[in-house]
Parts: sequence; structure tokens; C-alpha cells
Amino acid sequence: MKVTVVGAGNVGATCANVLAFNKIADEVVMLDVKEGVSEGKAIDMLQTAQTLGFETKITGVTNDYSRTADSAVYIITSGIPRKPGMTREELIGVNAGIVKGVVGNCLKYSPDAVFIIIANPMDTMTYLTLKATGLPKNRVIGMGGALDSSRFKYYLSQALKANPAQVDGMVIGGHGDTTMIPLKRLATYAGTPVSELLDATALDKVVSDTMVGGATLTGLLGTSAWYAPGAAGAYVAAAVLNDYKRLIPSCVYLDGEYGQKDICIGVPAIIGRNGVEKIVELNLTADEKALFAKSADAVRATNNVLKEINAL
Ligand code: 2OP
Repeated sequence: MKVTVVGAGNVGATCANVLAFNKIADEVVMLDVKEGVSEGKAIDMLQTAQTLGFETKITGVTNDYSRTADSAVYIITSGIPRKPGMTREELIGVNAGIVKGVVGNCLKYSPDAVFIIIANPMDTMTYLTLKATGLPKNRVIGMGGALDSSRFKYYLSQALKANPAQVDGMVIGGHGDTTMIPLKRLATYAGTPVSELLDATALDKVVSDTMVGGATLTGLLGTSAWYAPGAAGAYVAAAVLNDYKRLIPSCVYLDGEYGQKDICIGVPAIIGRNGVEKIVELNLTADEKALFAKSADAVRATNNVLKEINAL
């Protein structure tokens, strides 16, 4: 199957590379507005094909959406990344216009595609994609929960000195430094609740480190991270392309679930060939419910900016 990654910057190129190297798609197209960038990165990746042993077709194009025709999945990484000290929400003014234009162009050539949104502020860009296009809600997925959960599992494995492959946990809520909710109550190490293995202080530190995981990397790198965001996008895309029915915390449209309506925010969802196949409603505690409601309020406040800047 064919997948297009829009935006061949650090995140987009990493995502395309993971898709090709792991043979997740037969054909990967990278599209960027900067002349030559996606073409160059495609050739560079293709020159690893023999060394790494993959046969995936990779094409780089400059702004020619016709070359993306019949993509099953689009991964939207377009727009600007944050700089140290910036929040994801501050990117809305620039990124809303870009994402809206990009998605419209993609749909001209692949009207049946599923969209995976990485561009920030991710929850609001997912909502914008859905509202601006009128697509059915199952076909627009924000990848923030996949990324934030991978950071949660990383910090858990560090605190536990554990094998990361045996650590499990999920992050719900918004993809913002103050809006994400690492669900420490449900996290496990080889089936054992982590609350049995870490004291409350250590567990709270894992939670707070996870919440600013992206900001920490932005401070170190001078721009936002790309390996984990790119891999998270590919992980969600793999579930769609291969109908894996993976349970992935994903930013999806809620219509009453979790007591919320008309919002895209992170909750566990089963992701398969149709995109969002089912939203899983967890039995949250009163404290978790309160955090979720507060997170939704913050995401909704950012969504409201879309109207102020005439993006919706
Ligand atoms: C991050 O958290 C880019 O939003 C992305 O690194």
C-alpha cells in the first residue's frame, strides 16, 4: 500500500525512513514545499536499501500532490516545529493555515485516505483537519498519545531499571506540557502494577518528566524532537495499513465519550484499516476524570483560536 508523508523535515523524513526500513508500506512518498529536499532525502534513503535490506519504493516530490494519488494514508508533519521555551500551542497561527491547505490538496488525489496528524498543536490540528474537510471521524487520527506513551514507558523503564519491552503504560488527554495525563495507575512492568515497584515520589517524577518530555528535548536540541515523533507516526500508520487493530492512545473525535463532545483529544482507541475502529472507554477514577475534564478545557480553548484566526 502507498503512504504519503507531507513535510520532509526531521519528523517527516524519520517517519518515512521507519516506514520504508520496516517494510510497513510498499511505497512511501515524501512531499515538501522546499525544492529538492524530499527528492534528496528519498535518494539518500534509497541508498541504504541494499545495506539495510528493504525494497520499499521511496519517492520525493516538491509540492506535486498528483504524485501522492491513491495513498491509503497521509501523515501530516507540515508546519514549523517549536523552539526552546515555546509551547506547542504557540504554533497555531502559522500551522493552521498550512495544515488546512495541505489536507485539502491531499484529498483531491486520495479521497478515501486516512489522515494521521503530527503537526502541532496536534490536538487542534486534528480537530481542524476533521472540521475543515468534513471527513468521517474515523479517518482522522492524531498521533500524540502514541508518542507520549512511548515517552512514559521510557521514563518508567529508567526509574524501574527495567527492560523497556516489558513496561507498558498509556498517556491520555491533550498533547501539551500541562494537558497530558500519564495513567500511572494502569502502568505495568511484566504485568505487575508499577505502583508496587516504585514509591509515590518516584512515580510522580516519571509523570512530570513525561509531561515535559518534548520540551526537555527541544531544550537539548534547539528544535523539537524527531525520532520518537516520526516512529510514533509510523506505528499508527502501520496499524491502519495492516489492519492491526492496535489499541493506541490516540487523539480522536469524541461525541459523548468520556463526557466530551466536539473535541479531538487523546483516549485509547482501536486503530485498524478504517482508522479509528473503536473508542475504548476506561473506568477512570474521580481524580483522573477531573484531570481529563481540565485537559479538555485547555484543548478546547486552543481550538477556539481557530475561529479567531479565521481558520474555521
Ligand atoms: C513532540 O512532542 C513534536 O510534538 C512533538 O516532540
